[in-house]
Amino acid sequence: MAQLLISGGAGFIGSHTCLVLLEAGHHLMVIDNYHNSSPEALRRVANLAGPDAANRLNIVEGDIRNSDDLDRAFSNNKQDIEAVVHFAGLKAVGESVQQPLLYWDVNVVGSCCLLQAMQRHRCRTIVFSSSATLYGYPTQVPIPESAAVQPINPYGHSKAAVEQMLMDLSASEPGWRIARLRYFNPVGAHCSGKIGEDPRGIPNNLFPFVTQVAIGRRQELQVFGNDWPTPDGSGVRDYIHVMDLAEGHQAALDVLLQEDPQLLTLNLGSGTGHSVLDVVKAFEAVSGRSVPYTVQNRRPGDAACTVADPSQAAARLNWSTHRSLLEMCQDAWTWQQNNPKGYSTLD
Ligand code: NAD
Ligand code: UD1
Repeated sequence: MAQLLISGGAGFIGSHTCLVLLEAGHHLMVIDNYHNSSPEALRRVANLAGPDAANRLNIVEGDIRNSDDLDRAFSNNKQDIEAVVHFAGLKAVGESVQQPLLYWDVNVVGSCCLLQAMQRHRCRTIVFSSSATLYGYPTQVPIPESAAVQPINPYGHSKAAVEQMLMDLSASEPGWRIARLRYFNPVGAHCSGKIGEDPRGIPNNLFPFVTQVAIGRRQELQVFGNDWPTPDGSGVRDYIHVMDLAEGHQAALDVLLQEDPQLLTLNLGSGTGHSVLDVVKAFEAVSGRSVPYTVQNRRPGDAACTVADPSQAAARLNWSTHRSLLEMCQDAWTWQQNNPKGYSTLD
């Protein structure tokens, strides 16, 4: 079993991936500054992972832009760090338009600092959280990895820059094992309802907004457009259950650690599209609550339809998604019901 460093491990995708990796027997060192997460998430991960898991989960509260914090995370382990799973970063598209330098700093400078620390500590294996946002307005659906990288906002530019940084690094030094995983739309929660997505403030994304409407925290959903060229006129996306996504990281790590050094670039999605109205219906079915909505104008920067071609991930990782839209809704609903205020216990 490997000693792994997980940046951003307290966040939504990171916490679910930590659980899967602990259950597989790995030793984890998490570095997180809790900018968008809570230490409570990792306490629950350790509980869910079983009796000895807490001994295999260590945490440094720190910033990936700070080399002292990184050196502490790389050094405070019995074994050397064999691989890094790099989730830490900022992800709000609107905020990235308002504060582009913040996004270049955290996402790009932060990744550069992390890679420099990896060089100092002679670790050359990394799985990076990239995004389907790289494809901008896709010209071909389902989208293969060979599609043009043409992001349309600073968040997307920051992900493209880190992908390029990783490619330059792998070309410059033999021995790097790199996976650039392009996630489609991660949603849902662990089926226990103990860990899940805990957005701060008003959610930008569809799933957390719908769950908050169903629980009565928000009055109604705004559907951004019903005149898209899609079967029911609302936007279509490739939703992926966060536990399927977490298992995709485990599969990528296994391949990187077992095979010769390589650079993998893979879409992680289901290959199936669902519309906004499909999500509303599925959510109403599992929750027994109604999700009132009004139709608004299209949201600037939205595409009609983004769906992954996931065949490369299936071929290279022997991985594919198996949880349905109903399970995504059911698990998101269980999490929301058990934790109406997320990890916060404050009113
Ligand atoms: P998240 O905000 O829940 O998790 C990110 C974690 O990184 C948080 O725990 C946060 O506190 C931490 N962090 C932020 N800045 C940091 C810093 N400077 N130093 C240390 N820790 C820091 O987000 P998530 O949804 O779990 O996303 C994880 C990664 O996946 C991100 O890089 C994101 O861009 C990428 N991604 C997310 C989605 C999505 O829809 N959730 C889609 C595609 C890609
Ligand atoms: C958004 C980001 C994308 C980012 C992803 C994950 C934009 C333009 N895109 O993707 O870059 O990688 O989140 O963080 O912000 N919808 C509604 N009402 C809502 C919210 C969403 O109708 O209140 C619709 C959207 O128009 C879209 C679908 O639901 O058709 C999914 O939206 P969302 O969850 O925000 O994901 P993306 O737009 O795919």
